[in-house]
Amino acid sequence: MKPTLPDLTALAQGAGKILRAGFRQTKNINHKREIDLVTETDQASEDYILQQINARFPHHHIIAEENGESAGDPDHTWYIDPLDGTTNFAHGLPIFAVSIAYAYQGRTTLGVVYDPMRDEMFSAELGQGATLNGQPLQVSQQTDLKQSLLVTGFPYDRFTNPDNNFNHALNFLMRVQGFRRLGAAALDLCNVAAGRVDGYWEMHLERYDMAAGALVAQEAGAVVTKKDGTPDILSAPYSIVAANPTLHGEMLKVLALPAA
Ligand code: IPD
Ligand code: CA
Ligand code: CA
Repeated sequence: MKPTLPDLTALAQGAGKILRAGFRQTKNINHKREIDLVTETDQASEDYILQQINARFPHHHIIAEENGESAGDPDHTWYIDPLDGTTNFAHGLPIFAVSIAYAYQGRTTLGVVYDPMRDEMFSAELGQGATLNGQPLQVSQQTDLKQSLLVTGFPYDRFTNPDNNFNHALNFLMRVQGFRRLGAAALDLCNVAAGRVDGYWEMHLERYDMAAGALVAQEAGAVVTKKDGTPDILSAPYSIVAANPTLHGEMLKVLALPAA
């Protein structure tokens, strides 16, 4: 049995309640790696989502940030980020979300990203468009890189990983109106969908960071690919670029430039 978009929306609302309740209350903050945090709220949100999915869809395959990959039928795969923007959350900065996607036979068909602090529910179904709290979303029509506001992120292993996005960031900085680093990849993609930023790129995300937001952006009219322009963003090595078709092409050109 397949889930429906209202199923995912209900899960995101339930998890969002947990995130809201834990915000600025969370005491237990641990380090997964030197600067990669996890809080008791990440875990509580994921426990809730997994328990709900397992109760209704016990044979499905789940890829979740804190509990890893479960056994299950790969024809029905869920991608769960229970708290995207953990660093913001841990510092009391209200920019974070829960991200839930469902893929049928390898194709993402449903995605929701819920920002519980703004009560913003971004959702999309393959071929049906994307909405924010029920209102249709449309990407920006900006085609001039120089007039564009972009958003990006940097990987947690940036001190040791030479492919840390610094060179791309420098190349963009010299060619755009500005770019932001807001700290929640799923929301970055939804902000592209809503036309609040013109484009987004990032390297080395995980599938649970991107799957839902990528569908929302795509259904709002964005082209979403890897940095080499190939479409299968959920296959390694991971990278993502999202923008309207013309700006997307311009962004790929900048990503192909040598180090500045
Ligand atoms: C992180 C955020 C951030 C991105 C990182 C992600 P987390 O997810 O989405 O914006 O730059 O690469 O890992 O750890 O907050 O769920
Ligand atoms: Ca994440
Ligand atoms: Ca997370």
